[in-house]
Amino acid sequence: MAWKTLDDMDLNGKRVLVRVDINVPIVDGVVTDSTRIRRIAPTVRDILAAGGRPILLAHFGRPGGERRENLSLNQLVPTLERAFETKVLFAADCVGTEAELAAELLQPGEVLLLENTRFHALETKNDPDLAAGMARLGDVYCNDAFSAAHRAHSSTEALARLLPACAGRLMQAELEALESALGQPERPVTAVVGGAKVSTKLELLSNLIEKVDYLVIGGGMANTFLVAKGMGVGKSLAERIMKDTAAEIIKKAEGLGCQIILPTDIVVAETFASHAPHQVLPADQCPEEGMILDAGPDSVARITEIFGQSKTVIWNGPLGAFELEPFDAATNAAALKAAAMTRAGQLTSVAGGGDTVAALNASGAAGDFSYISTAGGAFLEWMEGKTLPGVAALDQAG
Ligand code: 3PG
Ligand code: MG
Repeated sequence: MAWKTLDDMDLNGKRVLVRVDINVPIVDGVVTDSTRIRRIAPTVRDILAAGGRPILLAHFGRPGGERRENLSLNQLVPTLERAFETKVLFAADCVGTEAELAAELLQPGEVLLLENTRFHALETKNDPDLAAGMARLGDVYCNDAFSAAHRAHSSTEALARLLPACAGRLMQAELEALESALGQPERPVTAVVGGAKVSTKLELLSNLIEKVDYLVIGGGMANTFLVAKGMGVGKSLAERIMKDTAAEIIKKAEGLGCQIILPTDIVVAETFASHAPHQVLPADQCPEEGMILDAGPDSVARITEIFGQSKTVIWNGPLGAFELEPFDAATNAAALKAAAMTRAGQLTSVAGGGDTVAALNASGAAGDFSYISTAGGAFLEWMEGKTLPGVAALDQAG
């Protein structure tokens, strides 16, 4: 991969079309987590410092090609101004004469935000004509939206081929972190994969067993693996239909020298609720009426011991029902171990995915991780070994 960065581009006086991902959660018009906005600020600041005029292109939600006022990017202007510490102007469309004029009139030090690209149905079809309309607004294209790079859309893919193109600072940082965690990692490497379903993470598991030394499996998907090993899991979330697939993964991993770590003890309750009465049992003794909601203390001890031998940890998915106390215990304990080792300079730790980041934030561990990705789907697809269209387009672009 050889993409250009902002340092390779002549930005002085240029209109720089920056594809950002500011798809942030919003409740009653209030941004509840501005992480993605804060993380693009260095790109905007560097463009301004180089004399460039940043023009931001972004999607917001899934309006399905229709103008929907509740998904207007206009509502993010105040949050952007706070993050960039500069004036942010707004154009009510991402193509057309009004946007072109606003781009032309943009003054040094100002930022222009364009309306939601997905108000155009052609955006998600990677339409070249829509991309050409966007290209008229800029002299240079900068993609800083790693978290939307798994989408081949006009603003993430086709546009990159129409203008001199480069990666923004966040895109660079994301790619570098992933490369250090899975591309050329320091070994041993441990992957932690949790979440509800094996079926949604099959490709991920298959790719990881070829790349990592230890694969820790947690959450609902661990139950499917326990079933594959002939254990009963009572009323736990499990995809019994996937048990043969899980057994094949275990067998294949053995052949590849990848050790799969499953819970050896489990925290079992009869209801899926915070503080539901619960007990710790050996993994093969889940009662008929029981529901496995977390990994037990022996499992956590084994996971932290494996972290202790590792140089790199890559994490996607919680180990238990982390949204319900106290079933966040295994996730918290393992996360805090990874954080402490990272702080001590013993470990490179990279995590991504919406739930994962929420869980690591809740545990207080996130701040000490080497890198926390802003991406959900894109992080997962990268871990699956897939080519991300938004990144590939940068690579081919001049
Ligand atoms: C995200 O929030 O994961 C990205 O912005 C991509 O959004 P999408 O899943 O609607 O394409
Ligand atoms: Mg998504």
